[in-house]
Amino acid sequence: MSEKILEVKNVSKMYGDRYALKNVDFEVYAGEIFGFIGPNGAGKSTLMRIISGLSSPTTGEVFICGKSVQRRFESAVINLGAMIENCQVYGYMTGKQNLNYYAKLYKGIPKKRIDEVAELVGMTPRINDKVKTYSLGMRQRIALAQAILHQPKLLILDEPTNGLDVNGVMELRQTLRALAAKTNISILISSHVLNEMEQLCDTVAIVDKGSILEIRTLDELHEKNGSVQRLRIRVNYPNYAAKLIYLKYDVPVEKAGNSILVPFDPNNAQKIINSLEQRNIKIYGTKIETKSLEDIYIEILKKHKTGKIS
Ligand SMILES: Nc1ncnc2c1ncn2[C@@H]1O[C@H](COP(=O)(O)OP(=O)(O)OP(=O)(O)O)[C@@H](O)[C@H]1O
Ligand SMILES: [Mg+2]
Repeated sequence: MSEKILEVKNVSKMYGDRYALKNVDFEVYAGEIFGFIGPNGAGKSTLMRIISGLSSPTTGEVFICGKSVQRRFESAVINLGAMIENCQVYGYMTGKQNLNYYAKLYKGIPKKRIDEVAELVGMTPRINDKVKTYSLGMRQRIALAQAILHQPKLLILDEPTNGLDVNGVMELRQTLRALAAKTNISILISSHVLNEMEQLCDTVAIVDKGSILEIRTLDELHEKNGSVQRLRIRVNYPNYAAKLIYLKYDVPVEKAGNSILVPFDPNNAQKIINSLEQRNIKIYGTKIETKSLEDIYIEILKKHKTGKIS
């Protein structure tokens, strides 16, 4: 088992009489990329602020590399790099000057570390240009370089993809993946871009209303939530078709425009199609699809809302 880097122990946070976080409990291991996903107001930023020591939990405790953030702040956060809310980079300075400036805030960061982090985030070619000439994605990468200057073991990123275009998001994913592979840093990241989280994270926690609904590796999440694949059937009467299939086969049926979606089972796929045709429903096309993290996420939120927790 690899080293435990972050331990969040039964953390709750109340604002007045409302819980922003309720009994949040999880661990992150060395080299793991751990994603936090949840709707607006779920408590993601609150948790990240508590882990960084910017806010105190009402109850519970956070440990970074075994040191309590609440009781031994300095020795705990020495192992932490964070990018929470707007990143501070100065436009009138070059990328390198920004990094030099931050390096002075820490003790004992050797000069060569600046070039090293610039390389790690893929900014070497533009490092001597002024930050005001950078794209948002490049600024983000300089902020990331700042956050890892002191070689932390844990990196916290709160919605780092905000404001980035598709390319920017993809580049950030590649940078983070490379960073985790090269340095074995653990990354805790929150994002609304679920398809990116799916490609980036090893483990995800789905949060809603301050509680963790599920924590799973991506593989487990796919397995636990039924068949990974589903069959999409495009028909002329989707409402009628959905009702028929539900009554005859007792499988969950979803409607999406002119299509119905059923869990894919090779043993009954053809039977389902035949039944529809027997009832004179026209079939315009069929397709086997893989469930995305987004589909699973929506299912889990729905399931918990209706109280049907598996
Ligand atoms: N300083 C505060 N005072 C009172 N309530 C707060 C404070 N900060 C956060 N909250 C409440 O705590 C809850 C969680 O907020 P938080 O910002 O952590 O959510 P989030 O998951 O980061 O949402 P988003 O996706 O919008 O960033 C919300 O109900 C919010 O209104
Ligand atoms: Mg937030």
